Amino acid sequence: MKSVQVNLGSRSYPIHVKSGLLKQTASILSDQNHGQKWVIISQYNLMELFGFDLMTELNESGFNCDYITLPLGEASKCLNEFGRVISQMVEIGCDRKTTILALGGGVVGDVSGFVASSFMRGIDYYQIPTTLLAMVDSAIGGKTGINIAEGKNLVGAIYQPKGVLIDPVILESLSKEEVMAGLGEVIKYGAIWDKAFLIDISTWLEDIDSFPFEDAIRKSCKIKAEVVSKDEREGDLRRILNFGHTIGHALESHLGYGKIRHGEAVALGMKCAGFISQKLNLLSKEELSTLNQTINRLPLPQLPHINGNHLMPFIKTDKKSEKGVLNFVLLDGLGNAISSTDVTEELIQESLKVLN
Ligand SMILES: NC(=O)c1ccc[n+]([C@@H]2O[C@H](COP(=O)([O-])OP(=O)(O)OC[C@H]3O[C@@H](n4cnc5c(N)ncnc54)[C@H](O)[C@@H]3O)[C@@H](O)[C@H]2O)c1
Ligand SMILES: [Zn+2]
Repeated sequence: MKSVQVNLGSRSYPIHVKSGLLKQTASILSDQNHGQKWVIISQYNLMELFGFDLMTELNESGFNCDYITLPLGEASKCLNEFGRVISQMVEIGCDRKTTILALGGGVVGDVSGFVASSFMRGIDYYQIPTTLLAMVDSAIGGKTGINIAEGKNLVGAIYQPKGVLIDPVILESLSKEEVMAGLGEVIKYGAIWDKAFLIDISTWLEDIDSFPFEDAIRKSCKIKAEVVSKDEREGDLRRILNFGHTIGHALESHLGYGKIRHGEAVALGMKCAGFISQKLNLLSKEELSTLNQTINRLPLPQLPHINGNHLMPFIKTDKKSEKGVLNFVLLDGLGNAISSTDVTEELIQESLKVLN
């Protein structure tokens, strides 16, 4: 099977993207089955949609597979649930040979990956992402973690999976809003890395019913894999994946989690970052208009008026700000992102006018 490779020496792994792939999981993983215990970590709704069938298929193919569920929602990315999953794994007889299958969106992927990184000092795991956001972003690159009261993703590890299995057919049961929000991240890949891809996405978005998800996901994974292969631990290069995220994260925090989807906030953040890039003469007016036209094809939420003075503190505390210097990702031409420390507060404030 043609797969995308994340190249990290002995920790390299394949990303398989193919419609109908979930049904082939047993044959894809059969080489890795040495009689150990396998455990699917998921959510109960996802077990009903695909997990129980997957478990049955694995067990009928000679695997010894069990499952553990997490509650729905961001709240389950917490120390309590992390501890509960670990205890349950011990109860059902998991050991250091156990392999985890993380079946879910970013929440399941982040918790499961962190469990894998620490259970008996680290065990193997595979990501089987079920949301578009997880397929093109969170399942790749090995960032795992949980939230604590003091902030999101403050506890975690960079711990790479053994493989990522992506079946775009799974998206059929996801709400249209979630899928459209995930496309914000897909547009990001075109904007930061590949102008031709951005233009393709723009054309594809003219008719969402025939959007080629498999191709778009594979291409997005390829771009993320290339970036992560060159820069696993977020030096300058991996930072470009945060295009649109400085203002995007600030909008999520300011409006309150749950009020805006992550992908929507990123889409709006990209419009601001595009505006700033054009003001700094890095992006031509035509390029900015191509970027905006593409983003505007997504059904973006109507925001209440955003007071820049209220948003600014969130922008300044974004984790991309190191030692008080804000690293802002800009476009130096479409398909070419750079990280800049030259963006002034005034320019950020001015860019916010594109939000309303
Ligand atoms: N590790 C990383 O690099 C990284 C990157 C980006 C985001 N994240 C994290 O990802 C999380 C958000 O992930 P998300 O947007 O995937 O949300 P999510 O995991 O909460 O999933 C959204 C909801 O959709 C349901 N669902 C998932 N797949 C479905 C399907 N195919 N059909 C029907 N329902 C389905 C889930 O049960 C859940 O209720 C955040 O916690 C964020 O911090 C991590
Ligand atoms: Zn994101």
